[in-house]
Amino acid sequence: MSRKIIIFDTTLRDGEQALQVSLNSREKLKIALSLEKLGVDIIEVGFPVSSPGDFNSVEKISNVIKESRICSLARCIKKDIDIAAQAMSNAKNFRIHIFLGTSNLHIYSKLRKNFSEIIEMAVSSIKYTLRYTNDIEFSCEDAGRTSPDNLCKIIEKVIQAGATTVNIPDTVGYTLPTEFSKIISDIRLRVPNIHKSVISVHCHDDLGLAVGNSISAIQAGAGQVEGTINGIGERAGNTALEEVILAIKTRKKILNVYTGIKHKELYNTSKTVSKLCNIMVPSNKAIVGSNAFSHSSGIHQDGILKNRKNYEIMNPETIGLKIVQFNLTSRSGRAAIKNRMQEMGYSESDYNIEKLYMDFIKLADIKGKVYDYDLEALAFIKLEKFMKLKKYFKLKNLNINFNTLGLSTVSIQLIAGKKLHTKKTKSFNGPLYTIYKTFKQLINFNISLKKFKLITKIKENKTITQVKTVVKYNNRFFNGISVNKNIIKASAKSLINILNDIWISKQIRIKFNKI
Ligand code: KIV
Ligand code: ZN
Repeated sequence: MSRKIIIFDTTLRDGEQALQVSLNSREKLKIALSLEKLGVDIIEVGFPVSSPGDFNSVEKISNVIKESRICSLARCIKKDIDIAAQAMSNAKNFRIHIFLGTSNLHIYSKLRKNFSEIIEMAVSSIKYTLRYTNDIEFSCEDAGRTSPDNLCKIIEKVIQAGATTVNIPDTVGYTLPTEFSKIISDIRLRVPNIHKSVISVHCHDDLGLAVGNSISAIQAGAGQVEGTINGIGERAGNTALEEVILAIKTRKKILNVYTGIKHKELYNTSKTVSKLCNIMVPSNKAIVGSNAFSHSSGIHQDGILKNRKNYEIMNPETIGLKIVQFNLTSRSGRAAIKNRMQEMGYSESDYNIEKLYMDFIKLADIKGKVYDYDLEALAFIKLEKFMKLKKYFKLKNLNINFNTLGLSTVSIQLIAGKKLHTKKTKSFNGPLYTIYKTFKQLINFNISLKKFKLITKIKENKTITQVKTVVKYNNRFFNGISVNKNIIKASAKSLINILNDIWISKQIRIKFNKI
């Protein structure tokens, strides 16, 4: 029979520990609500003794979260346990998670104790915690490097004292999947009272093995997996929960386990965590990276169009993503181009595929990624004309002033075809936004700014800024990119590139009655 794996999320504790700027309680609550919506069984919300801010966040979250169980971390110290219990006193259900180093390294060189003293501290702390709750998790910190004899001994004692979950952390991400699964099997074989407790695993990703180790632990009988969304956490991070969850779903026949997770919430949860924690998800990150479901090579795109299963083991809708469109690049073939044209409502008789393909390849060589609106334009005009039209709007002059009160004044002279337009705008919304606002008023397109991303690097005594902008116009997203040593010029140019693309697209769509 299939076993349920308990999903324990520690994004707000182990994950938050690694952030450069701590989250405030409002941000933590937002993450907790999104984890609750995802169907996480246990949310470790903090380490309340560590700071008044952490205490307040735990308290606030405990008042609101009802579906998931709340958990707080404590050392084997009475004050930690009291404060953890106090912070969660309003929670519907709560767990106290206490931890203590069990490897010789931690015992002798960090805690400066001996093993008998460690057992005594663990047992007395668990007995003390029982006054607050029966739901007690005990973590053998650095279990991955703890001798099997000591690990089994302390686990037996803590279960006897009242621990209902025993956690086996690979604190420094040292073990290999075969070693880690043996640790779990040995515990199950050698600890006589192990049936009274759930075995949990908590892996770090120093060798990139956290998810692999967690999966092998499940195969060896672990009943709870700990981790964080997007794998954020100390050093190289923790087990990425979305990866474990989808591995369980995708390989359910072989693993014979399931989770209570609402998979469709995974993508949104990942986005929420990334945004609030200010940690970008790498594009190639499994499950939630922007490329995780996108196919680039012509052979793969053709294979996917014939049968998605050719190159997809999971479908993007599972995690709440809409169908992911192919990246159109110089590696794309005719099949992908025809498909995208069809998605835009054109039939093959509307355009010449050979001409379109040849122009597309030339443009892709210049531009890298080709967008819908580029393809649509190329289908109906020659590449040379397209390149010429891309210079319809030209910047003649841009003047900017800002003062310490925050007022920005921008005046722009823009050439549109053969005419010169001028506009001056003032705002307190920052100089870059004021530039955008001035352009918007100048050209009178009903656009809205969706992304304005700047990356500045120092190169040969100069600063070079790359600006990427995304603007929405008529339900379509237009992308502009520009590089310049002047941050203002780079920003203005990326917007002008977009304006030119919108202008071309408008001409084509008017001609073909698409608007
Ligand atoms: O990595 C670790 O050992 C921990 C414990 C506190 C569980 O985070
Ligand atoms: Zn940890």
